[in-house]
Formats: sequence, structure tokens, C-alpha cells
Amino acid sequence: MKIAPSILSADFGKLSDEVKAVSEAGADYIHCDIMDGHFVPNLTMGPMIIEAVKKATNVPLDIHFMVEDISFFIDMYKHLKPEFISFHIEEEKHINRVIQKIRNLGIRPSVVLNPATPVCLLDYIVADVDMVLLMSVNPGFGGQKFIPSVLDKIKELRELAQKKNPSLLIEVDGGVNDKNAPLLKEAGADILVAGSYVFKHPDYADAMKALRCE
Ligand code: DX5
Ligand code: ZN
Repeated sequence: MKIAPSILSADFGKLSDEVKAVSEAGADYIHCDIMDGHFVPNLTMGPMIIEAVKKATNVPLDIHFMVEDISFFIDMYKHLKPEFISFHIEEEKHINRVIQKIRNLGIRPSVVLNPATPVCLLDYIVADVDMVLLMSVNPGFGGQKFIPSVLDKIKELRELAQKKNPSLLIEVDGGVNDKNAPLLKEAGADILVAGSYVFKHPDYADAMKALRCE
């Protein structure tokens, strides 16, 4: 199980120290939540902040866009060469075109489903992406309560991936903690995003160890 701490719950007054701390504590990816105040009712970080994050770590970046105009945002962040760019399919008319745009930049494409968005919408996309991010809260804020129906979605997606893309990575984001991590692992998740659980924990390494269910 890989862990991607979400810096949304970090102390922004000392963001580079926080990024260094989770990197040294064993983070596999640094999850960056970019919100535009339109797709979700919140605003977070711009490209200058993510540049500072990138300077503070060698851990690959996992950028989760919660925005209306994904192409505009990809162009704004592409020079940062994240490992993954994840975008919500609820907002995009030309999903395949955006996947190709990300792939052509040498970045691994990933699509995101909100809690109410069904897995069947991925039938003709799943073979073209490296990862699917399943939201286990309604996007927009850290510290929300885990929505357990994501466990069935992980299983359903894993079955679809067996047929169409066996190397697909499944990432889960929202309300992840030490109680639901074993259930997420059993259901078939590969990467867990955790904001408040990691950053509110007194020891970041211990927090991530608990989430890995080792
Ligand atoms: C919510 C974000 C999450 C958030 C998770 O829209 O996508 O990445 O930071 O925070 P927790 O782990 O506190 O639910
Ligand atoms: Zn996120």
C-alpha cells in the first residue's frame, strides 16, 4: 500500500518544512489538491505554491485538480512534471482528449470519480489511464467523514480493471484513517490519500505505517 499525504491539512505557515517532514517520514507521493472555487466551493493553492512544494522534496507529486477548465490548469502546472494528474470526469466533455493531452506531456493520467459517480462511466476510459482516484468524501475540504460505499466501488473497479487494464492503480481520497485503511486494502486500493489523519498525528512516520496496515 502506498501513501500520499494531502498537504491540504499541513500547516501552511511552514509548508516546505511540512513537505520535508512527510517526505522523510516515507511518503510515496505528495498529494496536492488544486481547487478553483467553481467546481468545488473552496480555493486552495496556485502554481507558485506547488513550485515551492516541488523544491522541498524529491518525492513525486500527485496533483488532484478539482476545477472546471482542466486544460487551462494543465497548461499552468505542466512544467512541474508531476507523476500523476487527476481530473474529475463529471466536469469534462472530452475526457479522452484530456487523457491524451496529459499522456503527451509525459505525465501519468488519472481520472477521478465523486462518491455518487458510477464506475460504469469508466468502461471506455479505464484502458487509457494509469490510475483512477475514487473520492470517499465530497471534494472540497479536508477532515470530512469517510463514505463507506466507496468500498463496493473499489471492488467493482478492480473487476473492470482485470478485464481491461490489469495494471490500473486505484487511489482513494477522503476521510482515510487507521480504521478504514485495512478495509480499503482488502477491497483492492493501491494508494491511500490522507490529509488530516497524517498531519494531525504527532508522528508522521507512525501515521503512514498505520495506514499501510503492515
Ligand atoms: C478533498 C481532497 C482531499 C483532502 C483529504 O477534496 O481531495 O485530498 O485533502 O483530506 P482528509 O484525509 O482529511 O479527508
Ligand atoms: Zn485530493
